[in-house]
Amino acid sequence: MSIIKTQAGTTALPRKLRLGMVGGGDGAFIGAVHRIAARLDDCYEVVAGALSSNPERALASGTALRFDPSRCYADYREMARAEAARIDGIDAVAIVTPNHLHAPVATAFLEAGIHVICDKPLGIATAEGEMLAALAREKNRVFALTHTYTGYPLVRHARELVASGAIGDVRLVHVEYAQDWMAEAGPQSEAFQRTNWHNDPERAGPTGCTSDIGTHAFHLAGFVSGMQPNELLAELHSFTPNRVLDDHVQMMLRYPNGARGMLWSSQMATGCENALKLRVFGTKASLAFDQENPNELWLTPQGGSAERLTRGRVRGAAAEHATRVPSGHPEGYLEAFAQLYRDAAARIHAVNAGLPVPAETAGLPTVDDGVAGMRFIDAVLESDREGSRWVALRM
Ligand SMILES: NC(=O)c1ccc[n+]([C@@H]2O[C@H](COP(=O)([O-])OP(=O)(O)OC[C@H]3O[C@@H](n4cnc5c(N)ncnc54)[C@H](O)[C@@H]3O)[C@@H](O)[C@H]2O)c1
Repeated sequence: MSIIKTQAGTTALPRKLRLGMVGGGDGAFIGAVHRIAARLDDCYEVVAGALSSNPERALASGTALRFDPSRCYADYREMARAEAARIDGIDAVAIVTPNHLHAPVATAFLEAGIHVICDKPLGIATAEGEMLAALAREKNRVFALTHTYTGYPLVRHARELVASGAIGDVRLVHVEYAQDWMAEAGPQSEAFQRTNWHNDPERAGPTGCTSDIGTHAFHLAGFVSGMQPNELLAELHSFTPNRVLDDHVQMMLRYPNGARGMLWSSQMATGCENALKLRVFGTKASLAFDQENPNELWLTPQGGSAERLTRGRVRGAAAEHATRVPSGHPEGYLEAFAQLYRDAAARIHAVNAGLPVPAETAGLPTVDDGVAGMRFIDAVLESDREGSRWVALRM
């Protein structure tokens, strides 16, 4: 049994889930973060993996994580088959490979009846995303997508405030996601070589920065505002000679209710570490959230002064469900990631028991959010290709 304590109270899940991982071996970027997130609330034990494209590294990485040698796999297809056949086989798999493998890996595990927790973007083409959504439904398996930033308590609170009408009707949505790591990574650098799949359309997909962090910004804006744009006008750009894919994207958005929006994301924004910022302006008030200061949210009424809402003090079901650290102590990125794992665990237990989806897990991004992200990428490409004209965004 795992016992979870949040500000909303204490809940117990029937047992720890067994988690496997594909990708995330020695030297990988995000796999270790997933493992910490999965274990933070005692909802999972990590027991198996096909951790690398390199068989020796896959074995060495699994051994270092103390997996049973029989559960260190050189190939993810073999892992899906073998784990499905074991009595103590994995309940869920975390997919942390480059983008082009998300769909084939997820397909192998869904076909084997195993729940999926996949990193973003969902894949490299909309059709494969739609196929995954249909397969997850057919197999009745949970498919969580790790849009990390929606796990923050104050992001969940912002969404609840907007939905409650606290800021009135939404008029403007402004989101930016700025990083500078590509500006540092010259073609000869170790960082450039290690991450060179980000500049390869066969492995990253048809866009670079747009898929990598633009999809996070797009998802966050929709998550909090409760609205999806139906038209956009976009420009892709690369500041780096010989870079095939974009390292910068900027766009304007139009919403069905007449609201307007702006989204830009860049990996060439000098001096920016992980500057994901969202502002939502309603007829009564506005909200502002900055990912680098996730323990505060600013609420400013029309004609009034800004109020600083703090994570440990806000009262609301969504925020209280998503926080476990006492008031005044910083809670951050790892806990936001863990929140997605915890929500996924609650859903997996419910599905396994034939119960309805627990209402408190409503904030968990799923395969459908992934499909929306792929359609967003399609619309950005179409607009850019046609000289940055307005195009429809079909959700
Ligand atoms: N949620 C987030 O905030 C976030 C942050 C960073 C990366 N990501 C996403 O996570 C994914 C991985 O990114 P990364 O930066 O960790 O990449 P990375 O290049 O650092 O690691 C990729 C790992 O996948 C392994 N791999 C490749 N082919 C494989 C195969 N056939 N079988 C098994 N393993 C294989 C590699 O050996 C490596 O261990 C990407 O889709 C990326 O978009 C998400």
